[in-house]
Amino acid sequence: MAVAIRQNSRSFGLFAALIFLSVACPLFYRLYWGWEDDEVGTSLSPQEVPPAPALAPPVPEAPAAEKHIPEPSKSSALSSSSSSSLQVSETLPATTSAAPAASSAAPATPSPSSPQSSSTPVPSQLSVEIVVASTKRENTSWVHEYLPDWSHKVYVVDDPNHPLTVPLNKGREAMVFLTYLIDYYDRLPDVAVFMHAGRYQWHNDDPNYDAVPTLRRLNATYVRDVGYANLRCVWLIGCPAELHPYEDELAPPPRPPGYPADKPPPLPVRPDGKPLTTHQIFRQAFSELLPEREVPRVVAVSCCSQFAVSREAVHQRPRGDYVRFRQWLISTHYADDLSGRVLEYIWHIIFGREAVHCPKAEDCYCNLWGLCDLKCTQDQCEGRYKFPPSAAMPKGWPRIGFEGEERNYTEPFPLTP
Ligand SMILES: *[C@@H]1O[C@H](CO)[C@@H](O)[C@H](O)[C@H]1NC(C)=O
Ligand SMILES: *[C@@H]1O[C@H](CO)[C@@H](O)[C@H](O)[C@H]1NC(C)=O
Ligand SMILES: *[C@@H]1O[C@H](CO)[C@@H](O)[C@H](O)[C@H]1NC(C)=O
Repeated sequence: MAVAIRQNSRSFGLFAALIFLSVACPLFYRLYWGWEDDEVGTSLSPQEVPPAPALAPPVPEAPAAEKHIPEPSKSSALSSSSSSSLQVSETLPATTSAAPAASSAAPATPSPSSPQSSSTPVPSQLSVEIVVASTKRENTSWVHEYLPDWSHKVYVVDDPNHPLTVPLNKGREAMVFLTYLIDYYDRLPDVAVFMHAGRYQWHNDDPNYDAVPTLRRLNATYVRDVGYANLRCVWLIGCPAELHPYEDELAPPPRPPGYPADKPPPLPVRPDGKPLTTHQIFRQAFSELLPEREVPRVVAVSCCSQFAVSREAVHQRPRGDYVRFRQWLISTHYADDLSGRVLEYIWHIIFGREAVHCPKAEDCYCNLWGLCDLKCTQDQCEGRYKFPPSAAMPKGWPRIGFEGEERNYTEPFPLTP
């Protein structure tokens, strides 16, 4: 965008910027903030997702009525009193490893795959484990069927009797990912891959929105070498500059007298009464989660909270950090969608990447999946990801398209009986 503007006259630049702001941003925001039905969490409801509007009216964010510097937060989440749920979960590893249903292989055991299991280009001497955040109603059997060489940790957040569950169903997939990091901190595979439950979902960077190719082709060696990789290369939503924490902030109100020092600060209130956005609370949330770090001016990473990390990247932090992040999730007053999405924009920073992590699409596709020599702009590549017409995949997908048409689909990794 910036390049295009500079190449043209000043007035056209202004015009283009106006068009961009009034059209692209509201649309993207609408798409993004509207499309959350498939996330894990208590607020999850099986509601119909409306198709993305071609042009949504601009949704100006109300500016903060009064900006002020928030009190230093002194890691309020750390000392929060609700530690009982945490203790419950800290007994999880023993329980889960004893339970037969927990999963196929022990995480630290190298995967039993033979090098000649040919349809995967992934060098299988690395152990890879997939961590899935799911709810009871979701069918996750594809994880076992299509990733037989990996070990699996499929969490079910809304089934307290499931061997892999969470201490509290709050904060969507973030609660699962943190619970895994805490419980398996000492038994991590070489590479852990964090995913949502659906095989076909708009989050997946694949022409069929299919998770399987993004996993089967994943170059685990690359992930091990770089520490963290987002599993989405396209920049649609999240890159190149999603959050401006200082400009976007709606500061929390001052704590009333007698407000407990160890409680999360009171929530800011939008003058227009609408729900808070992640942008508005990000500065405060970041300072609570990573109090030792200055809040970045800009934060960007491709969306959707699906990523792969190496054991080394996880171990750059003590286990206690992940316990503290989860405690924040447990005690925060933010709604699920907000707290989960704060983590969505912090994982890459937690695992050692720059606050703005937007590798060129071309490099990303090549490094992650060996899809090299694609025709690309910096933010997307031909023949790869496009926004689907609606967040919900149509019935019969991927064989039946969004218009009910036959797509002549062939399974990229057919199962061998
Ligand atoms: C779950 O999905 C698999 C395909 O991965 C399918 O074979 C199976 O029938 C599904 N189970 C249910 C209960 O729908
Ligand atoms: C996987 O990544 C490693 C490290 O970047 C690289 O050396 C190797 O060639 C890649 N393998 C494939 C099959 O692309
Ligand atoms: C699918 O195959 C049918 C029959 O061969 C053909 O008529 C149709 O155009 C194909 N559709 C697509 C989307 O390629």
